[in-house]
Amino acid sequence: MTQPLYQQIADEYQRIIHSGALKRGDRFPSIRHIMQTQQVSMSTAVQACHVLEDWGLLRAKARAGYFVEDVQAHKQTTSPSAASTATTHPTELPEDWAKRYDGLHQLISQWLAEAEQKPVHIDFMTAVASPSLYPTAQLNRAATSVLRRHPEILTTFARRYGHPKLRAVLARRCAERGMPLEGKAITITHGCIEALNLALRAVCSKGDVVAVESPTFYGVLQALEAQGLQPLEIPTSAEHGISLDALEMALDTQQPPVRAVICMPTLHNPLGCSMSDANKQALVALCKRYQVPLIEDDIYAQTGPEQALGKPAKAWDSDGSVIYCSSLNKVLAPGMRLGWMAAGKWQARVEMLKYSQSRYIDELNQLTAASFMESQAYDRYLLRFQAHLQQLRHCAAQAIERSFGTQVQVIYPSGGMMLWLRLPDDASALELSKRALEQGVLTAPGPMFSSKPRMAHFLRLSYGAVSEAQIENGIRILAQLLPQCRIHATLAKTA
Ligand SMILES: Cc1ncc(COP(=O)(O)O)c(C=O)c1O
Repeated sequence: MTQPLYQQIADEYQRIIHSGALKRGDRFPSIRHIMQTQQVSMSTAVQACHVLEDWGLLRAKARAGYFVEDVQAHKQTTSPSAASTATTHPTELPEDWAKRYDGLHQLISQWLAEAEQKPVHIDFMTAVASPSLYPTAQLNRAATSVLRRHPEILTTFARRYGHPKLRAVLARRCAERGMPLEGKAITITHGCIEALNLALRAVCSKGDVVAVESPTFYGVLQALEAQGLQPLEIPTSAEHGISLDALEMALDTQQPPVRAVICMPTLHNPLGCSMSDANKQALVALCKRYQVPLIEDDIYAQTGPEQALGKPAKAWDSDGSVIYCSSLNKVLAPGMRLGWMAAGKWQARVEMLKYSQSRYIDELNQLTAASFMESQAYDRYLLRFQAHLQQLRHCAAQAIERSFGTQVQVIYPSGGMMLWLRLPDDASALELSKRALEQGVLTAPGPMFSSKPRMAHFLRLSYGAVSEAQIENGIRILAQLLPQCRIHATLAKTA
């Protein structure tokens, strides 16, 4: 997959610096020069310079512009004790980090790696709820009872494709949402991410084009790149979801043709939007007309009230051409890693791919989840869980209004656990995320959600795993940092 433009420009200058054509202390070309020679926007040129700065190859001098640093000298001047106590700013990531993540969307991979290494006090990035919102005690009791009833469960070979009891419970829950399925049509997976990967492997071959929403969940972009597939980004709005007109045009004219469509029609990540039932039906019909499989990611559906969110798109699938993927990791128990899929006409292929890739899923978890989900206690828990998330969303909305005022725009979704903030047009979400991380506040910058240099002034905030006090505090920190992350401030620094 092609890298973001700013990354390509940064790579090019990195090569020039390493070749010796630009030496330590040399004045680096101005933003205007980069814009003219590379034919790029100001924000792309500035982002490229930020990347080089992060790699330790450039240094900004107040009112003088950028100057070339010497990465070797930079490393030598770092004493061993300083290195061990230093925070892991991108400059301190191993020199070969880019190669390590080659083919895995470098920007996403680098950000995930950095976030792992920094002390985080307020986590607005991980899209799960905090353990206190999940039914920990009930699941623990259920697990104990399963162990008592099946003392050899950990030492017995697990069944292929999933335990019939869990498959049956999931099928019944689907039927309640207007999507009748038989238990044997369901395959249990390691989370939704395995389901998505299997779906792509089942219907695509290396080099194929896959239509995705823009923006889309970064895990989809990594999966596509890892499988050698090309994302084709289709405009998607926070009000209505994927543009069906744009998708139709792509299905009609794109060469090489689109081989699959991946979509989150309900509680989209990161936008939070849900398509109307009529549009979901039209989406299924459109894909069917062009005989292109639709891979539906429905992982957040049960985090919001069903009446506001409608049915899954798969409810309108009459011939098995929708591959439905979901998991219990958002809604029930992130630690169990239980996912599942209904692959329609590709089920046999998916099951064999799963067998060859990761064999079976442990049955203690499956039976534990099934015994809780078949009880009415699960329905009561779901209502409480949704109400908690709604309260946190309300709290985040108030904090955003108090701290940012009219500087940011947000559309508040009817469920899920994330907000998509539109910052001022000249703001760099990546810069804001980096500065916030230095203060222990972890966010997901917009560029992670596109394979192109887009979404530079968008930020995703997940609020499920934080307290109300952390929401208030974290959003105040972000608002305080925002003025330093606007391009006019950067230009003043480099002018
Ligand atoms: C939209 C979406 N799909 C899939 C996944 C991966 O899900 P799982 O953790 O069940 O593998 C996530 C996780 O954040 C997600 O947000």
